[in-house]
Amino acid sequence: MEIIIKENAQVASEGAARVVARLVREKPNAVLGLATGSTPLMLYKELIRLHKEEGLDFSKVTTFNLDEYIGLPRDHEQSYSTFMWDNLFRHINIQPENVHIPDGMAADVPASCTAYERAIENAGGIDLQVLGIGSDGHVGFNEPTSSFASRTRIKTLTQQTVADNARFFEGNESMVPRHCITMGIGTIMEARMNLLLAFGEGKAAAVERMVEGPVASVMPASILQHHPVAKIFIDEGAAADLKLADYYRWVYGGKPDWQRDA
Ligand code: F6R
Repeated sequence: MEIIIKENAQVASEGAARVVARLVREKPNAVLGLATGSTPLMLYKELIRLHKEEGLDFSKVTTFNLDEYIGLPRDHEQSYSTFMWDNLFRHINIQPENVHIPDGMAADVPASCTAYERAIENAGGIDLQVLGIGSDGHVGFNEPTSSFASRTRIKTLTQQTVADNARFFEGNESMVPRHCITMGIGTIMEARMNLLLAFGEGKAAAVERMVEGPVASVMPASILQHHPVAKIFIDEGAAADLKLADYYRWVYGGKPDWQRDA
């Protein structure tokens, strides 16, 4: 794991965007795994800026989103499909046929999950997966005790995730879908790079357990300790509980320029 602590979420997001942009420039047909939620919003804004002002070209890029609520049509205002089109896809030159988001309205959800895994494989696998982290340690919607071997499938959200996400549903927990489709932890671990962002003190405890705690399915994000290229972009708030924060700053500060991509 590479822990990159920046002074605020904006600076961290710009650093993460540089990592994504470098990949897309080096490999124009890159396959990106994408997340929704509050955390990646500044990253997506910066990618849009890089597209508009610096010509970052997404025309050959393929994307796979991590997850989607079951029971929300694609055009529902809180579907992750709507989120992605509003906050990124509509503003860049991605080809609609290269966008993949799990179908929360699929008639046969298990079959659609298998097809999603096959589509990732057929695209050559995910080059870079963007992740957030839930306050309960989930990545994607792989809630605590999810199998580290899991693939795309149905999951039930924890009560904590339902409460956390109620802010998107008029603050009303009863409106938050209880079930979702999510890439599995096994799927996420096969991405060639994982880029996780976390901002604010509300994420500090989860970040500390992910980075410095034992690897355990009760803290799903901790599996990233076993990933060969996991870059963790956090702000000072999310870094607040890290015991070795000064060491991570020292490591990052001492990197030679040729190794510093963010
Ligand atoms: C979203 C996703 C989730 C979120 C996590 C954090 O696609 O997979 O794991 O990344 O719930 O959400 P925010 O960023 O809203 O705090």
